[in-house]
Amino acid sequence: MMFGDLESHPLYGVPTLILVSAKDRDEMAYASAGIIAHNMVLAAENKGLGACYLFGAAAALAAHPETIVKLDLPTGFLPVCGVGVGETEEELTIRDQKMNQIGINEI
Ligand SMILES: Cc1cc2nc3c(=O)[nH]c(=O)nc-3n(C[C@H](O)[C@H](O)[C@H](O)COP(=O)(O)O)c2cc1C
Repeated sequence: MMFGDLESHPLYGVPTLILVSAKDRDEMAYASAGIIAHNMVLAAENKGLGACYLFGAAAALAAHPETIVKLDLPTGFLPVCGVGVGETEEELTIRDQKMNQIGINEI
């Protein structure tokens, strides 16, 4: 799966990359990590900072054990997802969310 602008640097030059790591490699661990990352994005944007999910770069780290070692994570933990955070000149505005982007079945 590909994300974002492939012409850009995968981290877009963000000053801060926050990695969320998990020990278990199952759906619950991935979902929990995603919820944590999402809360970070909301908190960052609430403070007027720019934030972007950087899950692709976090997942790619798994192929670089020499870099994983430098993260000094507890035994067995691996990065699951990432959030790039930094000051932005972009004006953060409330967008009109198209409800047809998400399928909903009312029962
Ligand atoms: C689960 C998830 C993972 C994402 N991973 C990346 C990523 O690795 N790199 C990236 O540039 N953007 C990533 N994004 C951000 C999306 O590319 C997109 O910018 C963001 O979801 C906002 O989309 P929208 O403007 O269409 O609402 C990710 C988004 C989600 C929901």
